Amino acid sequence: MTRVLFVCLGNICRSPLGEGVLRHLARELELAVEADSAGTAAYHAGEAPDPRSSAVAAKHGVSLAGQRARQVRADDFERFDLILAMDAANLRDLRARRPKDARAKLVRFRSYDPEGDGDVPDPYYGGPGGFDEVFAMVERTCRALLAGLE
Ligand code: 4NP
Repeated sequence: MTRVLFVCLGNICRSPLGEGVLRHLARELELAVEADSAGTAAYHAGEAPDPRSSAVAAKHGVSLAGQRARQVRADDFERFDLILAMDAANLRDLRARRPKDARAKLVRFRSYDPEGDGDVPDPYYGGPGGFDEVFAMVERTCRALLAGLE
């Protein structure tokens, strides 16, 4: 079983999509992968995903139902095999929190993107088109990640 944690800032827009899409694809491909997500900040702790993320996921047959935002914890660095930062700021924050000798591999999510590298742009303050762009990026990158695990 490979355990993967997606991390963004608020854990309501980008990382819930990572969690939902990876879980969905792993089930489809019958791969033993567990997905979760968290935020570097606690502003939205306890909240459901942003409705714009849930809507774009639903449009593609992916459910984010039951997800609730939470902040990253120290034990995440032991519980997960792979921690994926959605952008460079998230990666910096995670590196600063990472306990010494932590087990988890910590990388930027789009290092697995076959169509490019860089950040998953924060869609929070933009229009709904931003969520479509993020979904496409998350989906192709999750597929490439799973192909590497197979
Ligand atoms: P996320 O998006 O990091 O993809 O969940 C954001 C959500 C909330 C805020 C910023 C980004 N915020 O400032 O409240």
